[in-house]
Amino acid sequence: MILRDRRIIIGITGGIAAYKVAELVRLLKKEGMEVQVVMTEAATRFVTPLTFEVLSGRPVLCDQFAATGGPAHIELSDWADLVLIAPATANTIGKLASGIADNLLTTMVMASRGPVVVAPAMNHRMYENPMVRENIKRISGLGYVFVGPEEGELACGWSGRGRLVEPPCMLEAIKDVLTPKDLKDERLLVTAGPTREPIDPVRFISNRSSGRMGYELAKEGRRRGAEVVLITGPTHLKQPYGVTTVRVWSAEEMHNAVTSYFPQSTIVVMASAVADYRPKTIHTEKMKKKDASLTLELERTVDILYELGRSRAGKLLVGFALETEDLIENTKKKLKEKNLDLIVANTPASMDSEVSSVTLVDRDLNTQTIEECTKEELAGRIFSRIVELKKLAG
Ligand SMILES: Cc1cc2nc3c(=O)[nH]c(=O)nc-3n(C[C@H](O)[C@H](O)[C@H](O)COP(=O)(O)O)c2cc1C
Repeated sequence: MILRDRRIIIGITGGIAAYKVAELVRLLKKEGMEVQVVMTEAATRFVTPLTFEVLSGRPVLCDQFAATGGPAHIELSDWADLVLIAPATANTIGKLASGIADNLLTTMVMASRGPVVVAPAMNHRMYENPMVRENIKRISGLGYVFVGPEEGELACGWSGRGRLVEPPCMLEAIKDVLTPKDLKDERLLVTAGPTREPIDPVRFISNRSSGRMGYELAKEGRRRGAEVVLITGPTHLKQPYGVTTVRVWSAEEMHNAVTSYFPQSTIVVMASAVADYRPKTIHTEKMKKKDASLTLELERTVDILYELGRSRAGKLLVGFALETEDLIENTKKKLKEKNLDLIVANTPASMDSEVSSVTLVDRDLNTQTIEECTKEELAGRIFSRIVELKKLAG
């Protein structure tokens, strides 16, 4: 999901977690969003508007009666693609649930037609209060989207559920809300990362795959409304929110996991770098160093993509090809051999990198070059192509 040039109003209310929103504003600006901060009077007691003014590059709005030449609450609600209230106090949630509009933020939310995301933060005893629970239930039912709170240490020294979710989590909620749900009703299976083929208890053969591409595909698929299973080889990446994640180690384990989730999937994207060979013998004890050279005998692993291509009825199947020579020719050959609908051709420069430039080749051998972009952006472009191919297939 690309946030560039999208417009957000961040409503900050009077909670101790208000300082965390400074980091969120910084993240959103980095994504290219236009950010307008609106603060309640209580919020200005916790963090000065100047902080948000500098980070957002816009004057912070607090007073609904300040002379602006027009009704600021209406203009603001027309301007924004969405509103996020973070931290949302028990007081402001209560006002929203009761239809009270007595400051710029609550008046603007009342005039708003776009999505409203609410990130509550409060002491756990406040959060457990039946009044607060009722209020949250009421406005959830009206379509407000809640993110958090989470469990953990609270600013007041207590521990429990009531903590504001971290800025990356709020960022993900924003992307989620702004992404059209064009993969609703789809069950997506994505594989990611390298595999490790053991030699002995401490050594293995592997490759440089970081898993980033597959993880971004899984996240984008979920944002677009698909039910997502991610089967991942060993990586350092965090489990994507809302995605069923299965961790495997070797090509054989990857094969077993894919085989068990494949039948119920409607779209399968194999972005993992599965080993083609594995040591024929796995030593049970650590191999001792000797003066002579050592030869390892390797045997073929199962070609998972080839197997899927032979039993793919009714599914849309996407693979990746990494080549160092004759990239497009070899990619087209692989697409045909493995009976794929779409293949993503890339080079070793994409491995273990934040960015990638690729060529998409579809089943009719049409090619589309995508210049260097982030893997998140690339995941969006790949799914847009998948959605087009699905439409063509009827
Ligand atoms: C030190 C301090 C910390 C507070 N932290 C919170 C909080 O985390 N969550 C909350 O709901 N209220 C908190 N409150 C209470 C709110 O500031 C109070 O309800 C205020 O009226 C909220 O106004 P607003 O919703 O218009 O911003 C805190 C109050 C103080 C004095």
